Amino acid sequence: MSAIPVELTTMTEHAILRCPISGGPLRSLTATELSEANARRSHETPELSAGYVSADGQYAYPVDDGISRLTPDSAISLNGAAPDTALRAEKESVQAFYDSKGWQKDEEGVFVDTALFIDPNPSIETYMARCRARVQDHLPKSGSYLLDVASGPVQFPEYQAYSESFAHRVCVDLSMVALQEARRNVGEDGVYVVGDVTNLPFQDDSLDGVSSLHTLYHVPHDEQADAFREIYRVLKPGGTAVIVYFWQTTPWRNRSLPMKIALLPSRVVRRVLAAVRGRSANSSSAAKNELYYHAHDIQWFEQQNFPFDADLRSWSSVNMDFLRKFVPKSGPLSRIPAAIFWAEERFPSLLGRIGRYPMIVIRKP
Ligand SMILES: C[S@@+](CC[C@H](N)C(=O)[O-])C[C@H]1O[C@@H](n2cnc3c(N)ncnc32)[C@H](O)[C@@H]1O
Repeated sequence: MSAIPVELTTMTEHAILRCPISGGPLRSLTATELSEANARRSHETPELSAGYVSADGQYAYPVDDGISRLTPDSAISLNGAAPDTALRAEKESVQAFYDSKGWQKDEEGVFVDTALFIDPNPSIETYMARCRARVQDHLPKSGSYLLDVASGPVQFPEYQAYSESFAHRVCVDLSMVALQEARRNVGEDGVYVVGDVTNLPFQDDSLDGVSSLHTLYHVPHDEQADAFREIYRVLKPGGTAVIVYFWQTTPWRNRSLPMKIALLPSRVVRRVLAAVRGRSANSSSAAKNELYYHAHDIQWFEQQNFPFDADLRSWSSVNMDFLRKFVPKSGPLSRIPAAIFWAEERFPSLLGRIGRYPMIVIRKP
């Protein structure tokens, strides 16, 4: 018996989506195409009850439980041989990491990946929340679509606030688990798409604003420039994209000699404590080590022949290791994060260049 196509809930999506293989528009599958797609799907692909098809009728894409799978490796070729569309190994491993570990919850109900970036110390957590919130200062105030590139689960209230005045938040990620969780946090106004930032399944000039935090350094190093170009391509003229990146090298990087000397006492204490407690000195970095990342430095960014000018501003000039090592819960030194935040607001461009995490703000004229 042939499946009856389920009407896709957000038909307006058609206006912004595009086929990741042909680059052409997408439409809903007809009943005949749906049966054909089901007949041709691989054994691993569950039966489709809804989906998209490229305007030329060539490639079908499943929509599972309201989440569109728009990567070339999800395509079902409806006539003729499929092109080689396998996901690159590094991307597959990142996808597998987030599906099976990063976006699973620990015993305390916190996502494993999120636990790496939150801290029980209130002065650190307040600082991190203010950093997450400052992205919104640069995004458009309202519009039809805010694209959240590699959205993850949109787990923080500050993240959720970015799209509060937009009609829709478009969450795209390689991880299906991330999108299922994002749907819980964003709700019905969200559009959920499994997609690759280096080949975004969206039309040119179609999205009012783009945010992307802590993602592009998980893209294979030789495709990161493509990801920046893709984000610019889909941005509407007059729109703004804010990308939070990570500079590999900063003047106060952990591996510089002065930092090694400064950090030696705390490293010794941590190792002794870990030995006493019988576990690894940094269990969170053990989890991180399985995850591909490659951060370039600012020189790399400036050498790219990008079709845009970017404004570099500070998102956070320090990393969590620094904060955890130097910021106590109370006493005068607990004010270090507030002082850093003040400096970042006072000297955003300087600290965006020499600090750890820049906000790369791109406006499309
Ligand atoms: C460190 S998490 C950041 C998530 C979220 N933006 C945040 O700040 O919490 C990186 C996310 O990027 C996604 N990702 C990595 N490579 C991707 C790619 N090529 N295309 C789309 N998403 C990707 C991962 O699945 C993961 O959800």
